[in-house]
Amino acid sequence: MDGYRWKAAVVTLSDKGYAGEREDKSGPRICEMLEEAGYEVTRTLILPDEYKEIKECLCTLCDRDRVDIVFTTGGTGLSPRDCTPEATLAVAEKNVPGIAEAMRLASLKVTPRAMLSRGVSVIRGQTLIINLPGSPKAVKENLEAVLPSLEHGLAILTGRTGECAG
Ligand code: MTE
Repeated sequence: MDGYRWKAAVVTLSDKGYAGEREDKSGPRICEMLEEAGYEVTRTLILPDEYKEIKECLCTLCDRDRVDIVFTTGGTGLSPRDCTPEATLAVAEKNVPGIAEAMRLASLKVTPRAMLSRGVSVIRGQTLIINLPGSPKAVKENLEAVLPSLEHGLAILTGRTGECAG
């Protein structure tokens, strides 16, 4: 395109990561893959698994910072504290189910436990928000499945192209 680099934010949701009790390896893995793909990572954050904080953070990234895409990692499972999908849905204006479906489809070929991620993919304003599971391995497997198609979606979402050529 015109040399524009998509602006991305990466948010790690982890009580232990936030408390400094566990090193966050998933956030940096996402950043690495995004940078390799030509994205500009403008914000990285670690938050605890707190519904209200996650919601507020997502709103700020979309409405104030106006990043093109937000990736979250963690908090998508069945633990009582996991609330990333609920917080994401609470700020969503549109659902984009195919992205989460594609990630689970690809992941199920690697592990049947992929069914345990409740991650969602949505739009708020002109920002795409995608939930990834919490381990660096899962991040890689999920992101690999969708990354090649995201730029086209972003181009349409942000009005940088109106054409769907395939
Ligand atoms: N997806 C892939 N591709 N690879 C994985 O190893 N782990 C699963 C699932 N998705 C996994 C995966 C497991 S074991 C869990 S519990 C859920 O993601 C939720 O992870 P989270 O609670 O860290 O978000």
